[in-house]
Amino acid sequence: MNQDHQQFHASLEAHDDVAINPSTNPALSDLLSPARRNVLKGGLTLAALGFFAGGISACRSAGASPLLGFKGVPVQIDPQFDRVLVAEGYRATPFFSWGDPVEAGAPQWSPDASDDWLAQLKQAGDNHDGMDFFAFDGETDRGLLVMNHEYVNPPLHSGNRIDQSKPRPLSEVRKEQAAHGVSVIEVKKAADGQWQRVMDSPYNRRISALTAMRIAGPLAGHELLQTVADPSGLEVLGTINNCATGITPWGTFLTCEENWHNYFINHDQADYASRVSHKRYGLAKEGTSKNYAWETADPRFDATPDPQQAHGGYVNEPHRFGWVVEIDPFDPQAQPVKRTAFGRFGRECAALSLGDDGRMAFYSGDDARGEYVYKFVPSGRFDAANPKASRDLLDQGTLYVARFDADGSGQWLALVHGQNGLTAASGFASQAEVLLNARAAADLVGATPMDRPEWAAVHPASREVYVALTNNDGRGDKQPTDKANPRPQNLHGQILRFKEQGADPSAETFSWELFLLAGEQKGARDANGNAVPANLTGTINGDLFSSPDGLAFDSHGRLWIQTDYGDDEAAMQTMGCNQLLCADPSTREVRRFLVGPRGCEITGLAWSPDGKAMWANVQHPGISYPAGDGQTRPRSTTVLITKNDGGVIGS
Ligand code: FEO
Ligand code: CA
Ligand code: CA
Repeated sequence: MNQDHQQFHASLEAHDDVAINPSTNPALSDLLSPARRNVLKGGLTLAALGFFAGGISACRSAGASPLLGFKGVPVQIDPQFDRVLVAEGYRATPFFSWGDPVEAGAPQWSPDASDDWLAQLKQAGDNHDGMDFFAFDGETDRGLLVMNHEYVNPPLHSGNRIDQSKPRPLSEVRKEQAAHGVSVIEVKKAADGQWQRVMDSPYNRRISALTAMRIAGPLAGHELLQTVADPSGLEVLGTINNCATGITPWGTFLTCEENWHNYFINHDQADYASRVSHKRYGLAKEGTSKNYAWETADPRFDATPDPQQAHGGYVNEPHRFGWVVEIDPFDPQAQPVKRTAFGRFGRECAALSLGDDGRMAFYSGDDARGEYVYKFVPSGRFDAANPKASRDLLDQGTLYVARFDADGSGQWLALVHGQNGLTAASGFASQAEVLLNARAAADLVGATPMDRPEWAAVHPASREVYVALTNNDGRGDKQPTDKANPRPQNLHGQILRFKEQGADPSAETFSWELFLLAGEQKGARDANGNAVPANLTGTINGDLFSSPDGLAFDSHGRLWIQTDYGDDEAAMQTMGCNQLLCADPSTREVRRFLVGPRGCEITGLAWSPDGKAMWANVQHPGISYPAGDGQTRPRSTTVLITKNDGGVIGS
C-alpha cells in the first residue's frame, strides 16, 4: 500500500507544477526605457542601501548568529528513516493525525480504512498543510489551532487505486471530499506545562469540499459564477487543495485554494481552447480530471458546457475556486466566505503585512512554473479600536502583480480594468473578468514569470517580505533566466526578499535581492567524485537544503524554512529527507532544526503566544509514520515541538 501511496503522490506532483503560462514576458530591462530605469534606480537607491546593507556586510559570519540558539541536526539519507528528528534538547511528539476525531460524535480512526465519508466529515482531514494559532482574547495558554488539509491519497482512504476505465464509486468520492478542507481544534496548556487538545470543545470544527460557503466581493452573484445548482452565484460548496494560509488583524483565518484546477475537466475541446478561464488554468480536457476523476460520480466537477441546462450546467463551477476563503475560527456557526477581490489563480498563501497606519497588504505566490507573485491591498485600513468593523475590508481593494527589474528595483502592476492595457479590446470586459482571469491579466501587464512561487513571509519588525521560489527545471526558451530566476535547470530553488518603498504595504515600488540560492556548496563533488554542475550549486551559508516551500517568521524575527522535494531523487541524496531549517535574516546563516520521515514534506508552522510550543506538519509521510511499525498506513500528522528546559523554540 505504501508503494501505491508513493506512486500516487508522484503522479500528483507531476501535474501540480506543469507550466501553462504561455506568455513570453521579456526580461524587465528590455521593457524599460533607459530613462525609466534611471528614475527607478535613483528613487530606490537609498532605500535599498538602508535595507540590505547590514545583511550583505554581515554575510558569511557562519556560526555567529545570536538568533540561532540550537545545534543543527544532520541530514538523514536512510531510505527507511521513519521518525522526526529534532535538535538536541527538544522533543517532537505526534499531536494530531489524519482521522483523529474532531467534531462531536466522530469515531476513532480505523486502521483498516473502513471509516466511511460520514465519519470522515467529523474526523481530521488528510495532508495537513498551512496552519495558524489563534489565542483566545487575553489568554496565553488556550487557543485554536487551524489548519488546511490539502489533498488526499485515495489508496490510503479506500484501499483502492483509481481505475480510470470506470466511474468512481460515489462513496469513495464523498470520503475524499470530506477529507479536504480545514480543521479547527481547541488546544490548551495543561497543568504539567504540555499542550493538549480539548476534545469536547464547541469550537472543534471540520470544513470540507462539501461545506456551503458564501461568495463575496466583486464576483458575488456574477453570471460567470452561476451554475445550474446555484443560479444565484452566491453560494458554493466547499474549498479544495488548501495549501498555505494567512491571518487577518481582526483574528480570522485565510485559507488559499492552490491546485483546484486538477479537480475539473471540460471535454469540449473547442470550448476549452476559447475559454481563458479554463485553458490558462490548466483544467483537464480529455480522459478524466487530473487528480481524482470526481466528475465521474459528482457532475459538479464536469465543467463541459451543457446548453440543455441553466447556466450551462457546471461550466462556471471552476470559477468558484482559486480564491482566498475567510474563516472565523471563533464562530463555529459562521459560513466561510470566498473573497473574490483577491483574484483567482493557484494561490499558495495570503501573508499579511500591516502598516503602522492600518494599511495592509496580503502577499501570495502562484505555484506553477513561470507564474507570478501578487499582492492584494485592501482599500480600507484596519482600525484596531474597532476590529469587527473590518469584516468586509477584504471585499474592496487592488490586486497587483510583481515585476522584478534587473537593477534590484521592482514595480507592482495594478490589475485594474482600464489600466495597464486591461480593456475590453484586450479581452477583459470588466474588473470581474480581470479578477477571474488574473493570470491572463498578469501576462498582459508584463509581470515577471517566476520559479514556482510558494509561500511568502513578512518580517515582524521590518516588514521585509521573503518569497520561496521552490524550483523550476523548465524555464526553457519561453521564459529565459533573469536576475530573480537565474538558473535554467533550477532543481533547488531560491529565496528572494524585497522591501516596499517606505516599508509601506501599499507602495507601488520596492527593492529586492536574492536572499539565497538553495543547493550544493560551490565546488561540491557528487558520490562519484564528479564536480556538481553550476546550476545545482547555491549560496547557502550553513546547512544545505533544496526546494524551499513553507516560510514563516517567529516573533523574534527568525525565518523558518520548510522543504518539499522528492527525497528519492538522485539530486537530493545529499539533502536527505525533507526538513525544517531556521535562518537569521541578518547574517543569512541557515541551520537545520528538524528532519521528517522519508517521503514526507514538512509544512505548516504555528506557535503558542509565548513561543515555547511550536506545531509543524508532516505531510504525506511515506513510511508508517507516526506508528513506526512498518505496517500501519502512514498518516499526515501535526507534531508538537517543545524545548526540554521549557524555553523559547530556537533560542
Ligand atoms: Fe501546496 Fe505549492 O504547495
Ligand atoms: Ca507548498
Ligand atoms: Ca511544494
